[in-house]
Amino acid sequence: VSTDPAHKKDVSSAASFLKEIFRETGLACRIHKTSGHPVVEAWSPPRKGVPTVLIYGHYDVQPPEPLDEWLSPPFEPTVRKGNLYARGASDDKGPVMAHIKAVEAWIKSGALLPVNVRFLIEGEEEIGGTSLTECVGPNPERFHADAILVSDTPMLGPGKPAICYGIRGIVYMEVTVRTAASDLHSGAHGGLAPNAAIVIAELLGKLKRKDGKVNVPGFYRNVRPLTRRERESLRAADWDPKRYLREIGARAFPGGEKQYHPRERQWARPTLDINGLVSGFTGEGAKTIIPCVARAKISARLVPDQDPGQVESTLEDYLRSKCPPYAEISIRKFESASSLMVSPDTPSIEAAGRALRRVFGRPPAFIREGGSIPILSYLSATLHAPVVMMGFGRPDDNLHAPNEKFNLGDFHRGASASACYLEEMGRISKGRND
Ligand code: BES
Ligand code: MN
Ligand code: MN
Repeated sequence: VSTDPAHKKDVSSAASFLKEIFRETGLACRIHKTSGHPVVEAWSPPRKGVPTVLIYGHYDVQPPEPLDEWLSPPFEPTVRKGNLYARGASDDKGPVMAHIKAVEAWIKSGALLPVNVRFLIEGEEEIGGTSLTECVGPNPERFHADAILVSDTPMLGPGKPAICYGIRGIVYMEVTVRTAASDLHSGAHGGLAPNAAIVIAELLGKLKRKDGKVNVPGFYRNVRPLTRRERESLRAADWDPKRYLREIGARAFPGGEKQYHPRERQWARPTLDINGLVSGFTGEGAKTIIPCVARAKISARLVPDQDPGQVESTLEDYLRSKCPPYAEISIRKFESASSLMVSPDTPSIEAAGRALRRVFGRPPAFIREGGSIPILSYLSATLHAPVVMMGFGRPDDNLHAPNEKFNLGDFHRGASASACYLEEMGRISKGRND
């Protein structure tokens, strides 16, 4: 759990565990210490004249809470009905493991690996950390790659492979509002004293309009409109709204801009959400106070060509300007990341298409995704290599939620697809693959 300093040691032992697995697989491996969490690098014996595939993934996970909703403990992997349940099963330890098994299979077969393989598995993806730049930045040539293979996005559905060509960026902040020196008796002071919970509720209420638009001036600056072709293709990818609602256990999807198709809202339009909200008394029973502090975590998902820094300051300015003068507002910013788009017609993505077709018997859908993988735009720009997002998990794998799972069939198909991908990449002659 990379976000919680109390787990720093556990994150390190996850890195060591991964190193051990790489060693058993027959790869050279090294743990890079950084100012944050370690990065695990592993590589096959370098061969001249074959392309290099860099496999990126992350070994860190999101916090497992709420613990009492897990049917088996989050850090005791348990198989039920063909699914492996554990925090990180699908995001992203399982898919990373599928790639490791693919490389292991090539090595055990006695054949030469068709490409050079290098793994970079980091421990700060889930906090949008940048420690990976500390090991790549000083000598990017050492990490030269013809393609960056990433399995950290889902398939379209069971048995429906997908290549993701666009993910969103993110800005995230914590907003704290203080209205008095301490909580106050709500009878003795009610009718006079300011209430921090009411202040933050009103403040947050100003962020969005009834039609779902974000009400912050400048928020939509540089948002790239979808092309007609893209809108048509996003609509075509099969999707059943009723089924989606059933899967997430909701009654409607009021979040987002009403005038856009749900798929556009989910994948290709910016969003603004409250991720957490606390104030006053939240324990058992009733306590009659006027809270003096209220805190909210809010974040926005970004699309091309929004600038995370600009959105962040726009949001901050807006919140400050709308906060009443009798309240004190403070804002703490977390790491931000820009969105990423890749062109689907590059040889290394076509190779992924062929690999998926071989394993699934059908071509992949080309999709965008709403989530973020913060470091990818840096990696792609620094290594001048295209990113290939070939996911193995399912949309209902409960990422970041209780009972995260990874289907074992998906795991095996993922490993096969990875093995095929390495073969397909080996067939691309060096020099014409970016
Ligand atoms: N694997 C996800 C990204 C993802 C999720 C892509 C769903 C497509 C669909 C990744 O591990 C993730 O959760 N990223 C965080 C980054 C954030 C904490 C900076 C995210 O998107 O919330
Ligand atoms: Mn992930
Ligand atoms: Mn995640």
